[in-house]
Amino acid sequence: MNPLKHVAIIMDGNGRWGLKNYNSRNKGHRYGLKTVEKIIKASIQNKISFLTLYAFSTENWKRPISEVSYLFKLLENFLNNKIFDLHKQQIKLKIIGKKNFSKKLNKLLLFCENKTKNNKKLQINLALNYGSKSEIINAVKLINKNKKKINETNISNCLYTKNIPDPDILIRTGNTNRLSNFLLWQISYSEIFFIKKLWPDFNEKDYNVIIKKFLKLKRNFGSI
Ligand code: IPE
Ligand code: IPE
Ligand code: MG
Repeated sequence: MNPLKHVAIIMDGNGRWGLKNYNSRNKGHRYGLKTVEKIIKASIQNKISFLTLYAFSTENWKRPISEVSYLFKLLENFLNNKIFDLHKQQIKLKIIGKKNFSKKLNKLLLFCENKTKNNKKLQINLALNYGSKSEIINAVKLINKNKKKINETNISNCLYTKNIPDPDILIRTGNTNRLSNFLLWQISYSEIFFIKKLWPDFNEKDYNVIIKKFLKLKRNFGSI
């Protein structure tokens, strides 16, 4: 059986789900949060150490301001309401991405990260204003600045995911087979599962099916 430490998820399909069921994309985002809670719980049950969730990409700023504002309000409310509960569950929250939000949100994110920094049960990496290309460019710039050698270890150590093992599993819901600028360096050898269901319809059973399949896969890493 394969060891399983890290699951990364592109939580796609909220907008379509909301439109279909409530004629509102934003409703889909709201329901998507319920799935997030289910998957956090299931990750703990499966003894997974790292769960990386793609919540907002560097490209998502292209969306209408009303949707972007709604998403950030949702995030703010979620953190304000749940951070103490997450802390109680021994969950560590880390933000990956460029933290250049409003003063208020930056402060809240920092508070959540500080509050939970010593927790050991599950680390949630929340990808917020995250883009893989800009992450890699930053890493190369940092290496240059510090006059370090360009090699795999040095690049990995300059990414937001420093000290986090690469994802074993990458899941994308929403019936779309693309990566949308997510963890391009880190998923070189991840097992990828593209799922037809939209994110709000995805549940712990679907998650457990993927994990079961993963555990039995033959992973080669270039060998035979
Ligand atoms: C993913 O769902 C959530 C975010 C990008 C914030 P979408 O909003 O992309 O949903 P679809 O793909 O439009 O249905
Ligand atoms: C990827 O989904 C980003 C998140 C899930 C946060 P998108 O819906 O933004 O991806 P594209 O634009 O369809 O590729
Ligand atoms: Mg989408």
